[in-house]
Amino acid sequence: MAVETRQGHTFGDRMPRKEDGRFIRGRGHYVDDIQLPGMLHSAILRSPFAHARINGIDVSAALDHPKVRAVITGKDLEEQGLAWMPTIAGDTQAVLATDKVRFQGQEVAFVVADDRYSAQDALELIEVDYEPLPVIVETPRALDPDAPVIRDDKAEQTNNIIFEWEHGDREATERAFEQADVTVKQEMIYPRVHPAPMETCGAVADYDVGTEKMTLWVTSQAPHAHRTLAAIVTGLPEQQIRIISPDIGGGFGNKVPIYPGYVCVAVASLVLGRPVKWMESRAENLMSTSFARDYHMVGEIAANKDGNILGVRVDVLSDHGAFNAHAQPGDIWPMGFFAIFPSCYDAPAAYAEATGVYSNKAPGGIAYRCSFRVTEAIYLMERTMDVLADELGMDPVELRRKNLIPAEKQPYESVMGWTYDGGDYHAALDEALRIADYQALLEEQKEAREQGRIMGIGVSTFTEIVGAGPKKKCHIAGLEMFDSAELRIHPTGKAVLKIGVQSQGQGHETTFAQIVAGELGIPAEDVDVHHGDTDHTPYGLGTYGSRSTPVGGAAAAVVSRKIREKAKKIAAHLLEAAEGDLEWVDGGFQVKGSPGQRKEMGEIAFAAYTNTPPDEEAGLEGVAYYDPPEMTYPFGAYICVVEIDKGTGQVDVKRFIAVDDCGVRINPMIVEGQIHGGLAQGIGTALMEVIEFDEEGNHLNSNFMDYLIPTSMEVPKEWETGETVTPSTHHPLGARGVAESPTVGSPAAVVNAVVDALSPYGVRHVDMPLKPAKIWQILRENRVEPF
Ligand code: CDP
Repeated sequence: MAVETRQGHTFGDRMPRKEDGRFIRGRGHYVDDIQLPGMLHSAILRSPFAHARINGIDVSAALDHPKVRAVITGKDLEEQGLAWMPTIAGDTQAVLATDKVRFQGQEVAFVVADDRYSAQDALELIEVDYEPLPVIVETPRALDPDAPVIRDDKAEQTNNIIFEWEHGDREATERAFEQADVTVKQEMIYPRVHPAPMETCGAVADYDVGTEKMTLWVTSQAPHAHRTLAAIVTGLPEQQIRIISPDIGGGFGNKVPIYPGYVCVAVASLVLGRPVKWMESRAENLMSTSFARDYHMVGEIAANKDGNILGVRVDVLSDHGAFNAHAQPGDIWPMGFFAIFPSCYDAPAAYAEATGVYSNKAPGGIAYRCSFRVTEAIYLMERTMDVLADELGMDPVELRRKNLIPAEKQPYESVMGWTYDGGDYHAALDEALRIADYQALLEEQKEAREQGRIMGIGVSTFTEIVGAGPKKKCHIAGLEMFDSAELRIHPTGKAVLKIGVQSQGQGHETTFAQIVAGELGIPAEDVDVHHGDTDHTPYGLGTYGSRSTPVGGAAAAVVSRKIREKAKKIAAHLLEAAEGDLEWVDGGFQVKGSPGQRKEMGEIAFAAYTNTPPDEEAGLEGVAYYDPPEMTYPFGAYICVVEIDKGTGQVDVKRFIAVDDCGVRINPMIVEGQIHGGLAQGIGTALMEVIEFDEEGNHLNSNFMDYLIPTSMEVPKEWETGETVTPSTHHPLGARGVAESPTVGSPAAVVNAVVDALSPYGVRHVDMPLKPAKIWQILRENRVEPF
């Protein structure tokens, strides 16, 4: 039987996303779509205080509600040893508060009822006797000798310090500063922001008393890791836990941690023997799930008079909230990959020190569309570079060009201990300048200033660091950071690829199929990609820190290549040729020099089940666990053009030019889409996003009317994207991650543009977010006429 090999999409094509059909037609299947027979609903009672002792909780009136099935408190969990859970950063976090509440919105009790409305109503029937305590929301206050000790539940904790960290060569950096012609120092805050995914967090737990199996549908970016942690925490056998992460409506790091709601829903299902659903509201998501950033930083650069960097020094105070649930790839990385801060510059010396502290704010510190604190590091470096350019009276572009790592030095060994995987930073900058027509822009700015308009141009050049492992360096709660792919080719040449990483909207069902297509000559349309079910996919550490392509994508390529090896044996058998005489051409094996003697992958797959060589096992399938030798270092050059309304202080982003190099692009259309989304989020951070508290620790913006995120009105009408392609020196496909570069590189470009616009008034720095009121104030102080 001949099997037809249909033409279709392959690696490198602008293939429309396979998953979009169901998303666009409203056929996606999210956690909140799960409906099970007999399912109960739940709601969480949250603390109205940011810091208070709990003297007692009375749930009797709530239990009397006719539709309430259970009320769980911290004391109930304590009896099972479940009142506290471990965090990814090695700390503990209260599941339901027992002794004290430590941030406003902290989980205090869990109500299970027949419907969500009744569960919500019953929250008001619970009486909690709180004794308010002094609150810390201003981060530096956490270090005051008389500051209240927030984590007095931990015997060893006598102050609010979580860690003190240093990295780099202190003496060499000090020498650089002593010898420098010019030094600059800039203090800045990267405000506390929220990833705010479209879908909030939630879970459905279904404990089957018959099979004793717990199935959990969870908004999870890392289902396998969550299953292992669930087994360790609850004591349930791991094979009796199945985690399903269905369609996920955006994660951006928000869906990496385990939240108290997930634990409570599982406990409730175990206790009641019925499925229980918990889905948080927008306010709950913004108030209590993981925030990002909240870094208070001082950046310093030492340079000679020509602008050559001699050293970079950094001091950081990092606010982790009430529990240290900070995302970090292992205990040696309390600051994540912050030590990337010398970035794409050839800095001969660098040193950083940092202190992490507790405060009365929500825990988290997750890597919001960022590879573990890279966003903060790059913002710090790019802002300080502009301050240096100002000090030297040098064009920021020229300063950067002078200091970018020359392509000849790649793979580059940075003084901070990283080995970069190739890159031509000058080429990326030149391409951005070409697209922007930089000289014309400078002319335009001159004219605008003559006309009394406030126009600014901001530049940012950076490298990212994405794709954790390698497993020898990186782990999550002890689980080494490899990733996996399992591929099965069916007799008719169609394939199923199962992966350990987890899409939250990045298009993995398409791009991973394209990887297999490129390696095996099977159209991407014929490769079904499965993820997000721990019973049916190989173990993986999940998707965050742009690790899918660098690690999971590499595993998909490696398993395809393993299968190609076996396919070669089968082709040799079919062609009655020696294996050594065959070559792989255009998705099939042919006899060298004799293209007519050829077997397509479809024919080979069929033979794998119907006509195998005598010494070969039947079937065509394999599995690969990939441990990256290093991280990948995508990079970019961004230029932002803004104009400020003199009357209102509103910043209008007129143009945004983004040149990204993520190595070889699997699907250029998806890459561009990722860049568009990331840029929008970066502009949001720069211009409008911040989680605010009053002095009592009340959360001031727990809805989208008060916590602003960008709409199409706040971003340029058109993104001007460009690319350079320098293949990664070690990734099997030459690819690097891409999804986070735009969020990492863009805030600095926007702020640099706004500061440039305001520089005629002597402005050197303005902290994010650059809300109209803040800019308006600067304009008024400088007596700028509003019209
Ligand atoms: O880990 P995550 O999927 O969030 O990030 P990523 O690895 O940067 O990939 C985001 C999307 O862009 C995925 O669908 C990738 O397969 C795709 N991509 C690509 O097509 N080519 C690249 N060089 C990098 C990513």
